Amino acid sequence: MTEILERFLVQRGHLVQTFQRADDALAHVRKQAVDLVLTDILLSGMSGLKLVQALRDRPDPPQVIIMTALEEINDAVEAMRLGAFHYLLKPFNMGEVRIVIDKALERRRLEREVSELRHEVEQRYEFANIIAKSQRMLAIFDLIRRVAPTNATVLITGSSGTGKELVARALHVHSLRRREPFVSVNCTALPETLLESELFGHVRGSFTGAIADKRGLFEEADGGTVFLDEIGEISPLLQQRLLRVLQEREFFRVGESTVRSVDVRILAATNRNLHEEVKSGRFREDLFYRLHVVNIHLPDLQERREDIPLLADHFLRRICRENSLGEKTIWPDALERLMSHDWPGNVRELENVLERAAVLTRGSAITADDLPLEVRERGPRVHIADALKERITLEELERRYIVALFESLGRSRTKAASVLGIDRKTLYRKLMKYRAEGHL
Ligand SMILES: Nc1ncnc2c1ncn2[C@@H]1O[C@H](COP(=O)(O)OP(=O)(O)OP(=O)(O)O)[C@@H](O)[C@H]1O
Ligand SMILES: [Mg+2]
Repeated sequence: MTEILERFLVQRGHLVQTFQRADDALAHVRKQAVDLVLTDILLSGMSGLKLVQALRDRPDPPQVIIMTALEEINDAVEAMRLGAFHYLLKPFNMGEVRIVIDKALERRRLEREVSELRHEVEQRYEFANIIAKSQRMLAIFDLIRRVAPTNATVLITGSSGTGKELVARALHVHSLRRREPFVSVNCTALPETLLESELFGHVRGSFTGAIADKRGLFEEADGGTVFLDEIGEISPLLQQRLLRVLQEREFFRVGESTVRSVDVRILAATNRNLHEEVKSGRFREDLFYRLHVVNIHLPDLQERREDIPLLADHFLRRICRENSLGEKTIWPDALERLMSHDWPGNVRELENVLERAAVLTRGSAITADDLPLEVRERGPRVHIADALKERITLEELERRYIVALFESLGRSRTKAASVLGIDRKTLYRKLMKYRAEGHL
Protein backbone atom coordinates (compact mmCIF):
# COMPACT_ATOMS: atom_id res chain seq x y z
CA MET A 1 0.00 0.00 0.00
CA THR A 2 2.83 2.40 0.90
CA GLU A 3 4.50 1.73 -2.41
CA ILE A 4 1.35 2.19 -4.46
CA LEU A 5 0.55 5.49 -2.78
CA GLU A 6 4.12 6.68 -3.11
CA ARG A 7 4.18 5.97 -6.83
CA PHE A 8 0.84 7.69 -7.33
CA LEU A 9 1.82 10.80 -5.39
CA VAL A 10 5.24 11.13 -6.97
CA GLN A 11 3.56 10.93 -10.36
CA ARG A 12 1.39 13.86 -9.33
CA GLY A 13 4.50 15.87 -8.56
CA HIS A 14 4.67 15.59 -4.78
CA LEU A 15 7.85 15.01 -2.84
CA VAL A 16 7.22 11.84 -0.83
CA GLN A 17 8.93 10.09 2.08
CA THR A 18 7.60 6.78 3.36
CA PHE A 19 8.00 5.20 6.77
CA GLN A 20 6.95 1.89 8.25
CA ARG A 21 6.97 3.16 11.83
CA ALA A 22 5.14 6.12 13.35
CA ASP A 23 8.06 7.21 15.54
CA ASP A 24 10.37 7.32 12.51
CA ALA A 25 7.85 9.46 10.67
CA LEU A 26 7.54 11.81 13.63
CA ALA A 27 11.32 12.10 13.93
CA HIS A 28 11.41 13.11 10.27
CA VAL A 29 8.73 15.77 10.71
CA ARG A 30 10.70 17.18 13.62
CA LYS A 31 13.72 17.63 11.36
CA GLN A 32 12.07 18.86 8.23
CA ALA A 33 8.96 20.88 7.42
CA VAL A 34 6.24 18.66 5.97
CA ASP A 35 2.96 19.78 4.41
CA LEU A 36 0.94 16.62 4.72
CA VAL A 37 0.99 13.28 6.51
CA LEU A 38 -1.03 10.35 5.21
CA THR A 39 -1.17 7.60 7.79
CA ASP A 40 -2.97 4.45 8.79
CA ILE A 41 -4.57 4.49 12.21
CA LEU A 42 -3.18 1.12 13.33
CA LEU A 43 0.55 1.57 13.49
CA SER A 44 3.64 0.06 15.01
CA GLY A 45 5.69 2.22 17.33
CA MET A 46 2.88 4.43 18.60
CA SER A 47 -0.89 4.73 18.23
CA GLY A 48 -2.25 6.61 15.24
CA LEU A 49 -4.13 8.97 17.56
CA LYS A 50 -0.94 9.81 19.46
CA LEU A 51 0.74 10.50 16.16
CA VAL A 52 -2.02 12.88 15.05
CA GLN A 53 -1.78 14.75 18.32
CA ALA A 54 2.01 14.97 18.20
CA LEU A 55 1.89 16.23 14.62
CA ARG A 56 -0.83 18.80 15.20
CA ASP A 57 0.87 20.11 18.35
CA ARG A 58 3.92 21.07 16.35
CA PRO A 59 4.60 24.65 15.42
CA ASP A 60 3.55 25.03 11.77
CA PRO A 61 1.76 21.64 11.86
CA PRO A 62 1.31 19.44 8.78
CA GLN A 63 -2.18 18.42 7.65
CA VAL A 64 -2.99 14.83 8.56
CA ILE A 65 -5.16 12.36 6.67
CA ILE A 66 -6.08 9.07 8.30
CA MET A 67 -6.61 5.79 6.46
CA THR A 68 -9.04 3.61 8.30
CA ALA A 69 -11.31 0.60 8.02
CA LEU A 70 -14.97 0.82 8.89
CA GLU A 71 -14.42 -1.01 12.21
CA GLU A 72 -12.08 1.75 13.37
CA ILE A 73 -14.31 4.62 12.32
CA ASN A 74 -14.61 5.86 15.92
CA ASP A 75 -10.86 6.32 16.04
CA ALA A 76 -11.03 8.27 12.81
CA VAL A 77 -13.60 10.60 14.32
CA GLU A 78 -11.42 11.03 17.39
CA ALA A 79 -8.45 11.75 15.11
CA MET A 80 -10.40 14.54 13.46
CA ARG A 81 -11.23 15.99 16.84
CA LEU A 82 -7.49 16.03 17.51
CA GLY A 83 -6.94 18.01 14.35
CA ALA A 84 -6.71 15.52 11.48
CA PHE A 85 -8.07 17.04 8.27
CA HIS A 86 -10.02 14.05 6.97
CA TYR A 87 -10.08 10.27 6.70
CA LEU A 88 -10.06 7.81 3.82
CA LEU A 89 -12.24 4.77 4.35
CA LYS A 90 -10.63 1.56 3.16
CA PRO A 91 -10.90 0.35 0.50
CA PHE A 92 -10.51 3.63 -1.39
CA ASN A 93 -9.54 4.48 -4.95
CA MET A 94 -6.90 6.90 -6.15
CA GLY A 95 -9.52 9.40 -7.25
CA GLU A 96 -10.56 9.84 -3.63
CA VAL A 97 -6.95 10.14 -2.52
CA ARG A 98 -6.35 12.89 -5.05
CA ILE A 99 -9.37 14.93 -3.98
CA VAL A 100 -8.68 14.70 -0.25
CA ILE A 101 -5.00 15.49 -0.67
CA ASP A 102 -5.64 18.51 -2.86
CA LYS A 103 -8.12 19.85 -0.33
CA ALA A 104 -5.75 19.24 2.56
CA LEU A 105 -2.94 21.05 0.80
CA GLU A 106 -5.23 23.96 0.09
CA ARG A 107 -6.10 24.09 3.79
CA ARG A 108 -2.41 23.93 4.63
CA ARG A 109 -1.75 26.94 2.42
CA LEU A 110 -4.55 28.88 4.15
CA GLU A 111 -3.35 27.96 7.64
CA ARG A 112 0.10 29.17 6.72
CA GLU A 113 -1.21 32.40 5.34
CA VAL A 114 -3.26 33.08 8.46
CA SER A 115 -0.35 32.34 10.74
CA GLU A 116 1.97 34.57 8.72
CA LEU A 117 -0.49 37.44 8.81
CA ARG A 118 -1.00 36.91 12.52
CA HIS A 119 2.72 36.91 13.06
CA GLU A 120 3.01 40.17 11.15
CA VAL A 121 0.29 41.79 13.26
CA GLU A 122 1.91 40.52 16.42
CA GLN A 123 5.28 41.84 15.39
CA ARG A 124 3.76 45.24 14.94
CA TYR A 125 1.96 45.22 18.26
CA GLU A 126 4.40 43.30 20.39
CA PHE A 127 7.55 44.44 22.09
CA ALA A 128 9.45 42.05 24.36
CA ASN A 129 6.25 40.19 25.30
CA ILE A 130 4.31 43.39 25.87
CA ILE A 131 1.22 43.48 23.69
CA ALA A 132 -0.31 46.85 22.86
CA LYS A 133 -1.45 49.14 20.08
CA SER A 134 -2.68 52.21 21.96
CA GLN A 135 -0.77 55.42 21.34
CA ARG A 136 0.16 55.66 25.01
CA MET A 137 1.68 52.19 25.08
CA LEU A 138 3.44 52.64 21.73
CA ALA A 139 5.04 55.76 23.22
CA ILE A 140 6.19 53.59 26.12
CA PHE A 141 7.72 51.05 23.69
CA ASP A 142 9.62 53.95 22.23
CA LEU A 143 10.78 55.14 25.62
CA ILE A 144 11.92 51.64 26.56
CA ARG A 145 13.92 51.37 23.33
CA ARG A 146 15.67 54.63 24.05
CA VAL A 147 16.33 54.13 27.76
CA ALA A 148 17.18 50.41 27.74
CA PRO A 149 20.74 50.67 26.37
CA THR A 150 21.74 53.31 28.95
CA ASN A 151 22.59 52.76 32.59
CA ALA A 152 19.91 55.16 33.79
CA THR A 153 17.93 54.15 36.85
CA VAL A 154 14.27 53.78 35.92
CA LEU A 155 11.26 54.09 38.17
CA ILE A 156 8.29 52.18 36.77
CA THR A 157 4.93 53.29 38.14
CA GLY A 158 1.35 52.21 37.56
CA SER A 159 -1.52 50.44 39.25
CA SER A 160 -1.45 46.78 40.09
CA GLY A 161 -1.49 44.49 37.06
CA THR A 162 -0.55 47.11 34.46
CA GLY A 163 2.63 45.31 33.40
CA LYS A 164 5.40 46.92 35.47
CA GLU A 165 7.38 43.73 35.77
CA LEU A 166 7.13 43.10 32.02
CA VAL A 167 8.56 46.56 31.40
CA ALA A 168 11.44 45.91 33.79
CA ARG A 169 12.28 42.71 31.92
CA ALA A 170 11.99 44.48 28.57
CA LEU A 171 14.46 47.11 29.77
CA HIS A 172 16.93 44.40 30.73
CA VAL A 173 16.50 42.34 27.58
CA HIS A 174 17.10 45.38 25.40
CA SER A 175 20.10 46.58 27.37
CA LEU A 176 23.78 45.83 26.87
CA ARG A 177 23.56 43.78 30.06
CA ARG A 178 21.13 41.29 28.53
CA ARG A 179 23.55 38.38 28.88
CA GLU A 180 24.18 39.17 32.54
CA PRO A 181 21.79 38.32 35.39
CA PHE A 182 18.40 39.96 35.89
CA VAL A 183 17.63 39.75 39.59
CA SER A 184 14.13 40.62 40.72
CA VAL A 185 13.49 41.38 44.39
CA ASN A 186 10.05 41.77 45.88
CA CYS A 187 10.62 44.25 48.69
CA THR A 188 7.46 43.22 50.56
CA ALA A 189 8.28 39.51 50.64
CA LEU A 190 10.59 39.66 53.67
CA PRO A 191 10.85 41.54 56.97
CA GLU A 192 13.43 44.33 57.11
CA THR A 193 16.40 42.44 58.55
CA LEU A 194 16.04 39.46 56.27
CA LEU A 195 15.58 41.69 53.26
CA GLU A 196 18.75 43.56 54.15
CA SER A 197 20.78 40.37 54.28
CA GLU A 198 19.05 39.10 51.14
CA LEU A 199 20.05 42.23 49.24
CA PHE A 200 23.52 42.83 50.64
CA GLY A 201 24.55 39.45 52.02
CA HIS A 202 25.92 38.78 55.50
CA VAL A 203 28.91 37.32 57.31
CA ARG A 204 28.84 34.27 59.51
CA GLY A 205 27.54 34.94 63.01
CA SER A 206 26.12 38.39 62.20
CA PHE A 207 22.71 37.21 63.44
CA THR A 208 21.13 34.01 64.69
CA GLY A 209 20.90 31.64 61.81
CA ALA A 210 23.74 33.21 59.84
CA ILE A 211 25.76 30.02 59.81
CA ALA A 212 27.97 30.92 56.87
CA ASP A 213 29.03 33.92 54.82
CA LYS A 214 26.50 34.68 52.13
CA ARG A 215 26.54 36.81 49.03
CA GLY A 216 23.61 39.15 48.57
CA LEU A 217 21.52 39.69 45.46
CA PHE A 218 23.46 42.82 44.50
CA GLU A 219 26.60 40.72 44.25
CA GLU A 220 24.74 37.98 42.38
CA ALA A 221 23.58 40.57 39.89
CA ASP A 222 27.04 42.07 39.33
CA GLY A 223 27.27 43.17 35.71
CA GLY A 224 23.51 42.85 35.28
CA THR A 225 20.28 44.43 36.48
CA VAL A 226 18.55 44.52 39.86
CA PHE A 227 14.80 45.06 39.79
CA LEU A 228 13.41 46.31 43.12
CA ASP A 229 9.69 45.60 42.98
CA GLU A 230 7.31 47.38 45.40
CA ILE A 231 10.03 49.85 46.35
CA GLY A 232 7.43 52.07 48.04
CA GLU A 233 7.21 49.60 50.89
CA ILE A 234 10.81 49.56 52.14
CA SER A 235 11.78 50.70 55.63
CA PRO A 236 13.73 53.89 56.39
CA LEU A 237 16.86 51.90 57.23
CA LEU A 238 16.84 50.11 53.88
CA GLN A 239 16.05 53.36 52.11
CA GLN A 240 19.29 54.70 53.53
CA ARG A 241 21.27 51.60 52.48
CA LEU A 242 19.85 51.77 48.97
CA LEU A 243 20.67 55.42 48.65
CA ARG A 244 24.32 54.52 49.20
CA VAL A 245 24.18 51.86 46.49
CA LEU A 246 22.59 54.30 44.09
CA GLN A 247 25.04 57.09 44.85
CA GLU A 248 28.29 55.18 45.20
CA ARG A 249 27.50 51.68 43.88
CA GLU A 250 28.84 50.57 47.27
CA PHE A 251 27.45 48.56 50.16
CA PHE A 252 28.36 46.48 53.20
CA ARG A 253 27.40 42.91 53.89
CA VAL A 254 25.46 42.68 57.15
CA GLY A 255 27.98 42.38 60.02
CA GLU A 256 30.96 43.38 57.94
CA SER A 257 32.86 46.66 57.73
CA THR A 258 34.70 46.27 54.43
CA VAL A 259 33.00 48.18 51.71
CA ARG A 260 32.15 46.27 48.54
CA SER A 261 31.31 47.66 45.17
CA VAL A 262 29.15 46.38 42.36
CA ASP A 263 28.29 47.26 38.80
CA VAL A 264 24.52 46.96 38.60
CA ARG A 265 21.78 48.81 36.85
CA ILE A 266 18.85 49.51 39.11
CA LEU A 267 15.20 49.42 38.10
CA ALA A 268 12.41 49.94 40.60
CA ALA A 269 8.63 49.69 40.54
CA THR A 270 5.79 50.77 42.75
CA ASN A 271 2.05 51.13 42.57
CA ARG A 272 2.15 53.87 45.20
CA ASN A 273 2.35 57.53 44.43
CA LEU A 274 5.91 58.20 45.60
CA HIS A 275 5.41 61.96 45.40
CA GLU A 276 2.77 61.62 48.08
CA GLU A 277 4.97 59.27 50.10
CA VAL A 278 7.78 61.83 49.99
CA LYS A 279 5.43 64.64 51.03
CA SER A 280 4.15 62.67 53.98
CA GLY A 281 7.70 61.79 55.02
CA ARG A 282 7.45 58.06 54.50
CA PHE A 283 9.92 58.00 51.62
CA ARG A 284 13.29 59.78 51.48
CA GLU A 285 13.30 62.61 49.03
CA ASP A 286 16.96 62.07 48.04
CA LEU A 287 16.28 58.40 47.29
CA PHE A 288 13.20 59.35 45.30
CA TYR A 289 15.23 61.64 43.03
CA ARG A 290 17.91 59.00 42.56
CA LEU A 291 15.29 56.49 41.47
CA HIS A 292 13.28 58.91 39.41
CA VAL A 293 15.95 59.61 36.79
CA VAL A 294 13.59 58.22 34.20
CA ASN A 295 9.96 57.46 34.96
CA ILE A 296 7.85 55.06 32.94
CA HIS A 297 4.23 55.33 33.94
CA LEU A 298 1.85 52.60 32.78
CA PRO A 299 -1.72 53.80 32.25
CA ASP A 300 -4.63 51.82 33.67
CA LEU A 301 -6.23 49.43 31.19
CA GLN A 302 -9.43 51.51 31.15
CA GLU A 303 -7.41 54.41 29.78
CA ARG A 304 -6.31 52.32 26.78
CA ARG A 305 -9.32 50.23 25.89
CA GLU A 306 -8.16 49.79 22.31
CA ASP A 307 -5.56 47.33 23.66
CA ILE A 308 -8.27 45.06 25.08
CA PRO A 309 -9.18 43.02 21.94
CA LEU A 310 -5.53 42.44 21.14
CA LEU A 311 -4.71 41.39 24.70
CA ALA A 312 -7.82 39.22 24.97
CA ASP A 313 -6.94 37.41 21.75
CA HIS A 314 -3.34 36.98 22.86
CA PHE A 315 -4.27 35.55 26.26
CA LEU A 316 -6.97 33.31 24.85
CA ARG A 317 -4.66 31.76 22.32
CA ARG A 318 -1.96 31.23 24.91
CA ILE A 319 -4.36 29.68 27.43
CA CYS A 320 -5.89 27.36 24.84
CA ARG A 321 -2.48 26.27 23.64
CA GLU A 322 -1.17 25.64 27.15
CA ASN A 323 -4.24 23.63 28.12
CA SER A 324 -4.74 21.84 24.79
CA LEU A 325 -8.22 23.34 24.52
CA GLY A 326 -8.27 23.70 20.74
CA GLU A 327 -8.85 27.08 19.13
CA LYS A 328 -11.47 29.31 20.67
CA THR A 329 -12.81 32.67 19.61
CA ILE A 330 -14.52 35.55 21.39
CA TRP A 331 -18.04 36.42 20.36
CA PRO A 332 -18.96 40.05 19.72
CA ASP A 333 -21.26 40.19 22.78
CA ALA A 334 -18.42 39.05 25.05
CA LEU A 335 -15.95 41.41 23.42
CA GLU A 336 -18.33 44.29 23.95
CA ARG A 337 -18.48 43.47 27.67
CA LEU A 338 -14.69 43.19 27.86
CA MET A 339 -14.39 46.56 26.16
CA SER A 340 -16.68 48.36 28.55
CA HIS A 341 -15.64 46.82 31.86
CA ASP A 342 -13.50 49.09 34.05
CA TRP A 343 -10.78 46.55 34.94
CA PRO A 344 -9.72 47.61 38.44
CA GLY A 345 -7.20 44.74 38.34
CA ASN A 346 -5.99 45.85 34.90
CA VAL A 347 -4.29 43.43 32.51
CA ARG A 348 -3.90 40.75 35.17
CA GLU A 349 -7.67 40.77 35.75
CA LEU A 350 -8.30 40.48 32.01
CA GLU A 351 -5.92 37.54 31.85
CA ASN A 352 -7.71 35.79 34.73
CA VAL A 353 -11.17 36.42 33.29
CA LEU A 354 -10.15 34.86 29.98
CA GLU A 355 -8.52 31.92 31.63
CA ARG A 356 -11.70 31.17 33.52
CA ALA A 357 -13.90 31.68 30.47
CA ALA A 358 -11.73 29.49 28.24
CA VAL A 359 -11.95 26.64 30.70
CA LEU A 360 -15.65 27.05 31.48
CA THR A 361 -17.10 27.55 28.04
CA ARG A 362 -18.61 24.49 26.47
CA GLY A 363 -18.32 25.58 22.88
CA SER A 364 -15.50 26.88 20.78
CA ALA A 365 -16.55 30.48 21.33
CA ILE A 366 -16.59 32.58 24.49
CA THR A 367 -19.88 34.39 24.96
CA ALA A 368 -20.95 37.01 27.48
CA ASP A 369 -22.43 34.22 29.59
CA ASP A 370 -18.96 32.80 30.19
CA LEU A 371 -17.80 36.03 31.82
CA PRO A 372 -17.96 36.69 35.56
CA LEU A 373 -20.87 38.75 36.82
CA GLU A 374 -18.93 41.95 37.44
CA VAL A 375 -17.78 41.95 33.81
CA ARG A 376 -21.10 40.81 32.38
CA GLU A 377 -23.12 43.48 34.13
CA ARG A 378 -23.26 46.68 32.22
CA GLY A 379 -22.83 49.52 34.67
CA PRO A 380 -24.13 52.89 33.50
CA ARG A 381 -20.81 54.38 32.55
CA VAL A 382 -21.77 57.61 30.90
CA HIS A 383 -19.59 60.14 32.64
CA ILE A 384 -18.59 62.85 30.26
CA ALA A 385 -15.04 62.51 31.58
CA ASP A 386 -15.01 58.89 30.44
CA ALA A 387 -16.43 59.81 27.08
CA LEU A 388 -13.69 62.38 26.63
CA LYS A 389 -11.00 59.92 27.57
CA GLU A 390 -12.31 57.20 25.28
CA ARG A 391 -13.20 59.57 22.45
CA ILE A 392 -16.47 57.77 21.78
CA THR A 393 -18.87 58.75 19.03
CA LEU A 394 -21.99 60.79 19.64
CA GLU A 395 -24.07 57.77 18.68
CA GLU A 396 -22.41 55.65 21.32
CA LEU A 397 -22.71 58.34 23.96
CA GLU A 398 -26.41 58.60 23.14
CA ARG A 399 -26.84 54.85 23.35
CA ARG A 400 -25.15 54.53 26.71
CA TYR A 401 -27.12 57.40 28.15
CA ILE A 402 -30.47 56.15 26.85
CA VAL A 403 -29.86 52.57 27.99
CA ALA A 404 -28.74 53.72 31.46
CA LEU A 405 -31.64 56.13 31.82
CA PHE A 406 -34.17 53.56 30.62
CA GLU A 407 -32.90 51.01 33.14
CA SER A 408 -32.83 53.54 35.97
CA LEU A 409 -36.47 54.49 35.33
CA GLY A 410 -37.62 50.91 35.78
CA ARG A 411 -37.75 50.41 32.01
CA SER A 412 -40.61 52.82 31.59
CA ARG A 413 -40.69 54.09 28.02
CA THR A 414 -43.09 56.90 28.84
CA LYS A 415 -40.92 58.30 31.61
CA ALA A 416 -37.71 57.89 29.61
CA ALA A 417 -39.21 59.62 26.58
CA SER A 418 -40.35 62.53 28.66
CA VAL A 419 -36.96 62.96 30.39
CA LEU A 420 -35.19 62.74 27.01
CA GLY A 421 -37.61 65.15 25.42
CA ILE A 422 -38.29 62.90 22.44
CA ASP A 423 -41.50 61.14 21.42
CA ARG A 424 -42.19 57.57 22.42
CA LYS A 425 -42.04 56.23 18.90
CA THR A 426 -38.53 57.55 18.35
CA LEU A 427 -37.43 56.11 21.68
CA TYR A 428 -39.05 52.79 20.83
CA ARG A 429 -37.16 52.60 17.56
CA LYS A 430 -33.86 53.26 19.29
CA LEU A 431 -34.53 50.72 22.03
CA MET A 432 -35.37 48.05 19.45
CA LYS A 433 -32.11 48.76 17.71
CA TYR A 434 -30.12 48.53 20.97
CA ARG A 435 -31.82 45.29 21.80
CA ALA A 436 -30.99 43.83 18.39
CA GLU A 437 -27.36 44.82 18.93
CA GLY A 438 -27.33 43.13 22.33
CA HIS A 439 -27.01 46.28 24.45
CA LEU A 440 -30.30 45.86 26.22
N1 LIG B 1 0.77 44.70 27.71
C1 LIG B 1 0.77 43.42 28.12
N2 LIG B 1 0.88 42.41 27.23
C2 LIG B 1 0.86 41.12 27.64
N3 LIG B 1 0.74 40.74 28.91
C3 LIG B 1 0.63 41.70 29.85
C4 LIG B 1 0.64 43.08 29.51
N4 LIG B 1 0.52 43.80 30.65
C5 LIG B 1 0.44 42.91 31.64
N5 LIG B 1 0.50 41.64 31.19
C6 LIG B 1 0.38 40.41 31.99
O1 LIG B 1 -0.44 40.73 33.10
C7 LIG B 1 0.08 40.19 34.30
C8 LIG B 1 0.45 41.31 35.26
O2 LIG B 1 1.58 42.02 34.77
P1 LIG B 1 2.78 42.46 35.74
O3 LIG B 1 3.08 41.40 36.75
O4 LIG B 1 3.92 42.94 34.91
O5 LIG B 1 2.05 43.67 36.45
P2 LIG B 1 2.54 44.59 37.64
O6 LIG B 1 2.32 45.98 37.19
O7 LIG B 1 3.92 44.20 38.05
O8 LIG B 1 1.47 44.24 38.76
P3 LIG B 1 1.64 44.32 40.38
O9 LIG B 1 1.74 45.77 40.74
O10 LIG B 1 0.37 43.71 40.86
O11 LIG B 1 2.86 43.54 40.71
C9 LIG B 1 1.26 39.34 33.90
O12 LIG B 1 0.83 38.02 33.72
C10 LIG B 1 1.70 39.95 32.58
O13 LIG B 1 2.32 38.99 31.78
MG1 LIG C 1 4.62 43.35 39.82
